[in-house]
Amino acid sequence: MSAPYTKVLPDLEATAEWGAKIADALRPGDVVELKGGLGAGKTTLARAILGALGHAGEVPSPTFTIIETYDAPPLRVPVAHADFYRLEDPSEALELGLDDYREDAVLLAEWPDHAGGFAHEAGCLTIVLESAGESMGEGRVATVKPGRDWLERLP
Ligand SMILES: Nc1ncnc2c1ncn2[C@@H]1O[C@H](COP(=O)(O)OP(=O)(O)O)[C@@H](O)[C@H]1O
Ligand SMILES: [Mg+2]
Repeated sequence: MSAPYTKVLPDLEATAEWGAKIADALRPGDVVELKGGLGAGKTTLARAILGALGHAGEVPSPTFTIIETYDAPPLRVPVAHADFYRLEDPSEALELGLDDYREDAVLLAEWPDHAGGFAHEAGCLTIVLESAGESMGEGRVATVKPGRDWLERLP
C-alpha cells in the first residue's frame, strides 16, 4: 500500500467527475473498496464509476441482491457491484460465487469488511467516505488508500 491521501467532494458533480477518473484507471481484476457509514455516498460513487464505464440507465443498490453484474460491452470492463452489508460471515462471499463474478471483472465492494476485506490485494483501491463537515454542507471527503498496482494511476 502507498501513502493514503484525501479528496474533497463538495457536491454530486464532484463525485461524478472523480468517479469518471477512477473509471478511466480501472483494469480487470481490480477491486474498489467503498467504505463509510450508511448514507456516506458509497452507492453514489459506484453509480458514477459505472456511468463513466459506459452503463446507461439505472444502477439499483445491491442491498438485497448483494451482487449486481454489468457486462462488457456496453461497459469498457465488466463490473460486479456488491453490497456485503447483509453477510453474516465472510465465508458467505465465496458461497455466493464471488470468485466467479470477479473473473476478468472489476469489483466495486460496499461494506468490504463483511466479505473479509480486499486491502491485501495489489489491485485494491480503498476509499473511505465521510461527511466533509458542517462548513461543507452535504459535501464528502474521501480518504484513499491505494494498493501497489495503483501507484502509477492514482485517481
Ligand atoms: N459528494 C456528495 N455530495 C453531496 N451529496 C452526496 C454526495 N455523495 C452522496 N451524496 C448523497 O448522499 C445520499 C446517500 O448516498 P448513498 O450513495 O446512497 O450512500 P451509501 O451507499 O453510502 O449508503 C444520497 O442522497 C446522495 O445523493
Ligand atoms: Mg449503498
